[in-house]
Amino acid sequence: MPSEERDDPDPVAANRRLWDARTPIHLRSSFYDVEGFLSGRSSLHDLEVEEVGEVDGRSLLHLQCHFGMDTLSWARRGARVTGADFSPVAIKEARRLSAELGIAARFVESDIFRLPRVLEETFDVVFTSYGALCWLPDIARWAEVAAGFVRPGGFLYVVEMHPAAMTLSDEPGIRQLRIGYPYWTGGEPLRFEEEGTYADYDAPIKLPEYVWNHGLGEIVTALIDAGLVLEFLHEHDCTIYQQLPFMKRGPDGWWRLPSTMPALPLLFSLRARRVG
Ligand SMILES: C[S@@+](CC[C@H](N)C(=O)[O-])C[C@H]1O[C@@H](n2cnc3c(N)ncnc32)[C@H](O)[C@@H]1O
Repeated sequence: MPSEERDDPDPVAANRRLWDARTPIHLRSSFYDVEGFLSGRSSLHDLEVEEVGEVDGRSLLHLQCHFGMDTLSWARRGARVTGADFSPVAIKEARRLSAELGIAARFVESDIFRLPRVLEETFDVVFTSYGALCWLPDIARWAEVAAGFVRPGGFLYVVEMHPAAMTLSDEPGIRQLRIGYPYWTGGEPLRFEEEGTYADYDAPIKLPEYVWNHGLGEIVTALIDAGLVLEFLHEHDCTIYQQLPFMKRGPDGWWRLPSTMPALPLLFSLRARRVG
């Protein structure tokens, strides 16, 4: 449920505090299963592995990499990886995991909008996934930054919560589909302050968070304006976590709405290339 309080003059700084606090909780969570990852499990889903394709020998930049499990999973598949995130706690843990596993990786601590000042090269693959875009106030600027890191012939791949799914009310005890949030927030973020995190609903954490909803048209048009050529835009009926209490997890591990409810896209994925 969105909260009406407005006590943070700087929502991005508040979000960084949130992610610093979430990181140790996520490291201990069964959702992230770090132990399994250390024993060799990939944190990537078949969806992005198939849609990104072969990465062996390719350079890959992972934007908003959290504590680096996906980044290191791409490295296990042969990519030369760089992960970037604005949370110093997450970046420290990513470096620790990389050292513990002996997997070569570079991790950069930076706000995404400042990243072009810190990283000057371009990459074969720029990757971003699941729960990244809602933290960004300016989607046009994000597209410029992300596209700027794609080398000629390379591509940006995004797999993300579908903006239609971001409108669904998740108020406690909800039993049906209901629109609870705007499809577009514009410049004014939604403020939440709830117990727990998506990876551990019972975790003892309650901090403000600020999110921006960006429409699918805004996202795709921003990438086209940034000079990329769209190769595909897929919409999916499943998601990676129990977003709503009545969602059911299938044998394939994905969460879906019950078949008695109207079908809705819960994720989208796209690939956009820099031609020439
Ligand atoms: C949901 S996580 C990314 C999820 C990732 N797929 C995973 O599960 O590991 C979102 C990440 O975005 C990062 N983030 C949020 N706002 C950012 C910003 N302005 N600049 C850079 N990173 C940011 C957070 O620190 C967090 O690690």
